[in-house]
This record gives sequence, structure tokens and C-alpha cells, in this order.
Amino acid sequence: MGIEKSSLYYAWENGMVGSMANIITTTESGVLIPGPTATLIHDEWYAALRTSELRPKTMAKTMLLDIPLIVGRKAEGALFAMRDSCPHRGIPLSAGWFDGHKVTCKYHGWDFEPCSGQCTQIPSLTSHDKLDATKIYATAFPCVERDGHAWVYVPSAGAGRVTEASKLKPVPELKKFSEKYRTAHLSADMPLNVDHGIVGLMDPAHGPFVHQAWWWRSQSSIREKTKRFEAVPEGFRMSAHAPSGNSAPYKLLGVYGHPVETTIEFVLPNRRTEQIRCGDKWFSSLTTVTPVTGSTCRIDVVAAWNVFYRVPFVLPIAKFFGRMFVEQDVQTMVEQAEGLKHNPSLMLIDDADKPAKWYFALKQARIDGRGKHPIDEPVDLHWRS
Ligand code: FES
Ligand SMILES: [Fe+2]
Repeated sequence: MGIEKSSLYYAWENGMVGSMANIITTTESGVLIPGPTATLIHDEWYAALRTSELRPKTMAKTMLLDIPLIVGRKAEGALFAMRDSCPHRGIPLSAGWFDGHKVTCKYHGWDFEPCSGQCTQIPSLTSHDKLDATKIYATAFPCVERDGHAWVYVPSAGAGRVTEASKLKPVPELKKFSEKYRTAHLSADMPLNVDHGIVGLMDPAHGPFVHQAWWWRSQSSIREKTKRFEAVPEGFRMSAHAPSGNSAPYKLLGVYGHPVETTIEFVLPNRRTEQIRCGDKWFSSLTTVTPVTGSTCRIDVVAAWNVFYRVPFVLPIAKFFGRMFVEQDVQTMVEQAEGLKHNPSLMLIDDADKPAKWYFALKQARIDGRGKHPIDEPVDLHWRS
């Protein structure tokens, strides 16, 4: 019953995609479920929500990898993340109460310390009961604040209790290169699975079509590009290069009179980082595509820069253009999702879709624990954009 896990990325990896006709399946009741879904990567940190939503003593509902969550901030400031489900009878804990110290279930009033998930009180117990409430745990996840995101570590099913952030892989963080800088962020929900979101994120060939604008570039500015890529652990890096001279904002950066250098990197499960440096001026961004459910995702961009630090209006202008860019991508993906409902066959072509192929190969290697890194030695990719 339910949704059959998609073989989408295996199909893509194993040869330019045959039919994906089996990705939409029916439930026992015969109702069509929209697909396709993606296989999800556990044992990773994911951005759950913006911490600006969380004043002390409040909690909010969200979802990561099909797991309903409550994420909140205790009275003294610590963040927590719990599965939004009482271990007693499964009612959402978000239906209950949070006083800044403990989460209380609405149904029978059990109390939980939210960072550990430990049950601290069962009101119905009497002196005749042997049950030790403190041996009971609701599911809690490590939760850490970085760059305004509440990052939640999502372990694989059956991993047991994982609550200490310090024993896990490092929490992703936006790189900054000076003490003073400005920041901005953007988020958008997308109605397709995380694989399509990530493929869209690393797609070099859509720019002149999706993002055409007089001040940026037009289709007539398309020219051949050659970019060198090299392997990094579970990812790849576009080697430092001078950005394309045919885009206006990069020309603008040239005003500082130093050579401009850009480095773009992708690492599993979902992170693209970009750094543009020009003497001691810099711009840095971290973009993540987070699986909310198996078939939907959310894109988050956090950026920091010290370029034009003193020039007024740069922040609103940068936000305006950033939002416009993301909106153009999201609009395109909403349209793509419409097309995907009808189960089309898909293609990945060389060289423009090579990064997407690498992503699927890396993901497959991570999930199967088999296969090797798709990049043996630095390789040049050529495309026109
Ligand atoms: S269902 Fe939560 S205390 Fe009973
Ligand atoms: Fe784009």
C-alpha cells in the first residue's frame, strides 16, 4: 500500500532514463497518489525553520523528511526539536502546552523535557504503581542554531536515541571572511521532490532562459563555457575561476579593481555553497534544498557579504534581486511539477547535466554504501549558457 519508493535516481543514474511509468502508484483504495517521491538521506543536519519564528517559550510545527516536528525555544534560550507525537497514544504534542520548560501532552498530561525527550511526570500514577516515568522518552532530535536556521539532525530509523549534537558531524555553516558583514535569507516551498530541487539548483543551462532580464543577461549573450570540476568528499567543486564576463552584477564587482574569483561547491545531502572574492571584499552563500516530504521540498538561501558594505540601499536591492531569482526558479519548478504529474520520460545530457549525474551517483553511493566517487580526477565540462 501507499507510495512505492521511487527508483527515479537509480533510473537516472543507470542510463538516461527509461520510462518512469511506475512512479505513481495506487493505494489499496485505488486512489492515485501524486508522485514521484525521492529516496531520502538520513543521518544529516537539515534546516528546519528560521529561528526568528521562535521567541523564548514558544514552539512551532514543521516537517522534515516526512517527520512531523515541533521545534521550540526554552525559557533560557536553548532550542529543541521533538517528533510531534506523544509516545503514549500518538496525539500531536503540538496540541498540548509548552511553558518554556516542559512540553505537556494534551491527552493525559504527561510532561516531557523537550531537549532530551525524557518524560518527567505521569499524572495518573499512584503510590501503587511501579512504573518509572523517567525511563520513558518521547523522540527528541539534536537541534542547533546557525545562520538563523534551526538545524535538526535526522537519524536513520532504528538509530536509537541521538541527542548530543557535539558527537555528530559538524552543523553546516555559512562561511564569512571578515568581522563585519551583512546577511539576508530567502525560503520557498517547492511542489516537487528533493532530487528535482537539487538538479535545478546545479543546472548551469537554464540561466539565460529562466533568469533573462535586461540588467542580467539575455539569450543572445549565450556563449560557450568551460569549467573545471574536482572531487571533494561526497561532492564536487567548480574550481576557482573568474566568473562569466557576460553578467552585469559580476561586472559591477569589478569596480574594486581586483580580480574576481568564484568558487562553487556541492556536497551531499543538499548543500551548495558559493564564494565570490575580490581582494578583501567577499560574498558568500549557502543554499540548501530540504526534503519536507518524499515529494516536496523547500529551498533556503542564506547569504552574507561585505561588498558595498557602506553603500545605502544595497541590502534591500540585493534582497529584491535575490528574491526575484529564487521566484523565477520556483515558478519554473511549479510548472515542472505540473508536467511531472503525467509521468514523462526524462533525460540528463552531457555535459550540461553532468553535475546532476554526479549528484545521483554520490547519493546512490551514500545510500547503498557501494560505488565510488564519480570524479577520479579534475575534469573540464563544456556547455553554452
Ligand atoms: S497520549 Fe499523551 S499523555 Fe496520553
Ligand atoms: Fe536558477
